[in-house]
Amino acid sequence: MSETLANLSSESRQFPPPEALAAAANVKADAYEEAAGDRLAFWATQADRLTWAKKWDQVLDWSNPPFAKWFVGGELNIAYNCVDRHVEAGHGDKVAIHWEGEPGDTRTITYAELLKLVSQAANTLTDLGVGAGDRVAIYLPMIPEAAVAMLACARVGATHSVVFGGFSVSALSTRIQDADAKLVITADGGYRRGKPSALKPTVDEAVAQCPSIENVLVVRRTGQDVAWTDKDKWWHETVEQASPEHKPQAFDAEHPLFILYTSGTTGKPKGILHTTGGYLTQVSYTHNAVFDLKPDTDVYWCTADIGWVTGHSYIVYGPLSNGATQVMYEGTPDTPGRDRFWQIVDKYKVSILYTAPTLIRTMMKWGDDIPAGYDLSSLRVLGSVGEPINPEAWMWYRENIGRNRAPIVDTWWQTETGGVMISPLPGVTATKPGSAMTPLPGITADVVDDQAQSVPNGGGGFLVLRDPWPSMLRTIWGDDQRFLDTYWSRFGAGAGTGDEWIYFAGDGAKKDEDGALWLLGRVDDVMLVSGHNISTTEVESALVSHPSVAEAAVVGATDPTTGQAIVAFVIPRGNVDTEGDVGEQLNVDLRNHVAKTLGPIAKPRQIMLVPELPKTRSGKIMRRLLKDVAENRSLGDVTTLQDSAVMDLISKGMNTGK
Ligand code: WT7
Repeated sequence: MSETLANLSSESRQFPPPEALAAAANVKADAYEEAAGDRLAFWATQADRLTWAKKWDQVLDWSNPPFAKWFVGGELNIAYNCVDRHVEAGHGDKVAIHWEGEPGDTRTITYAELLKLVSQAANTLTDLGVGAGDRVAIYLPMIPEAAVAMLACARVGATHSVVFGGFSVSALSTRIQDADAKLVITADGGYRRGKPSALKPTVDEAVAQCPSIENVLVVRRTGQDVAWTDKDKWWHETVEQASPEHKPQAFDAEHPLFILYTSGTTGKPKGILHTTGGYLTQVSYTHNAVFDLKPDTDVYWCTADIGWVTGHSYIVYGPLSNGATQVMYEGTPDTPGRDRFWQIVDKYKVSILYTAPTLIRTMMKWGDDIPAGYDLSSLRVLGSVGEPINPEAWMWYRENIGRNRAPIVDTWWQTETGGVMISPLPGVTATKPGSAMTPLPGITADVVDDQAQSVPNGGGGFLVLRDPWPSMLRTIWGDDQRFLDTYWSRFGAGAGTGDEWIYFAGDGAKKDEDGALWLLGRVDDVMLVSGHNISTTEVESALVSHPSVAEAAVVGATDPTTGQAIVAFVIPRGNVDTEGDVGEQLNVDLRNHVAKTLGPIAKPRQIMLVPELPKTRSGKIMRRLLKDVAENRSLGDVTTLQDSAVMDLISKGMNTGK
């Protein structure tokens, strides 16, 4: 971490907001003062941007920390806020979604059409016996039905659990089981890298292990052959035949909206629970503030998948609550060519682009001449999310995509925070390449040492959040104790060291001389691969579940493209042959085994077959040393090693590429 600190502190470039943008910005500098004066009044003002069926009695109930209740007594319907009210206000003909399929097919969906689709889907959910208090798993490609399905659940008060379409049978079935879902909404498949990629077989296998599932609703996207069971219903034979009239019912501000699973340091994924009123307040406000959205003229595009929180908050709930016109794209950035993104920006005149550092670095690798061939003059705000963006990638983004005009907003947040927490405001902040800058109005973030003491400017430590915020997670589904242990017991009252409840984000951070925040990545053993959190323990468990593996240790090694890449050290079982071609085949098999168990994103970049692993005397694997090997560094302190000869064996294998 010290190396990163040194590099980042030498960054002195600074870019003030463009004058015209600043003059017309939705949010100006006074927002910080307003929020600092009366934080709860500030959030109440933001909640008033929404339409409530019943006004709240109390902004925040923090009498049972860390279990927050926001807008206590208030009632609203999220789908009404995202769809109906725009139609009622006369914007029914406005485009909500410009959808672009990977093969080049397109759909244009207005707010009036979205209302019809969501109402039909809501009626179908009711017909299938799904209502308030039930859970629905959504396993779909990036097609408009994904947003429709989420909104329909919200409309009837069912809690959705979206599972990323790239996840495997076991990832899907454990998530269905943990949430005890009644219904799965899926598709025959989606398009990826130029061909149809099946989803239904994965669902069939998962559902066979999930007795709670009563029905499976299947969208026909690719037209692939699918096996059919008596639980299956076609979307076009149910939803598209249903009545387009549906009256939304208001739900309590704390009604559970969705569960989204995120990897932790221990094996089992955590079901992060978000609720209704506070969540929508913060994602709606931040989408308006951070991107300076002008709903009448902007075309917004977030390139995330709906399976991640970014897709939830900044494709579905934030933009639609604000009445935005947005682009939604099904496929990969290199299909049919590496210019696909810039073609889309040019075609739809995208003015706000929100993407991830891993994609920016990939585009850098592909070459400046690709974006240079397109008219990108429509772009006026650029966003980044998912992991720290290194200054080099930030500058490339600014010069080659923003053409030195568009401000970059580097937004720090988490599945747990629900919405953006730390980010520049494009009309206010003078940005520094690589820094997420300052907490948004109404948010209190800090960097503390291991005694929970705030570090001075120039210091580094742990990122924490000091006051509850509207879109904070409410708990881990079914596991309040784990919620307390994971986020609240490291510092503050949860740890018995004071009255204040301090949220531990799990990230390292630094304050520079001006107090701007620089995020440094996870402090625990979670790897960040292409912006996705993957725990070392999960990958190790997957490896050890293979019959040829005795033991495994996994580390995240710095990778120029994906941020971190998974490198695994595996001890084969005694009777397993690892020589020559057989060893090579085993290596391939193990990588595929992990991809099959956890999903392709978790496939290790490299697997080393080793005779031993470095362990402490108490038997704890020293991942730090393996990381040194994986990153080709000389070894750090080996004195706590049980057997130091082990490292020689491992390093030798690494250098010969075995
Ligand atoms: C972790 C949360 C937020 C949606 C996507 C990821 C890292 C996220 C940034 C950023 C530095 C970032 C952190 C965080 N992260 N954004 N702008 N700068 N790091 O959501 O999967 O819950 O991961 O992503 O380490 O804790 P997530």
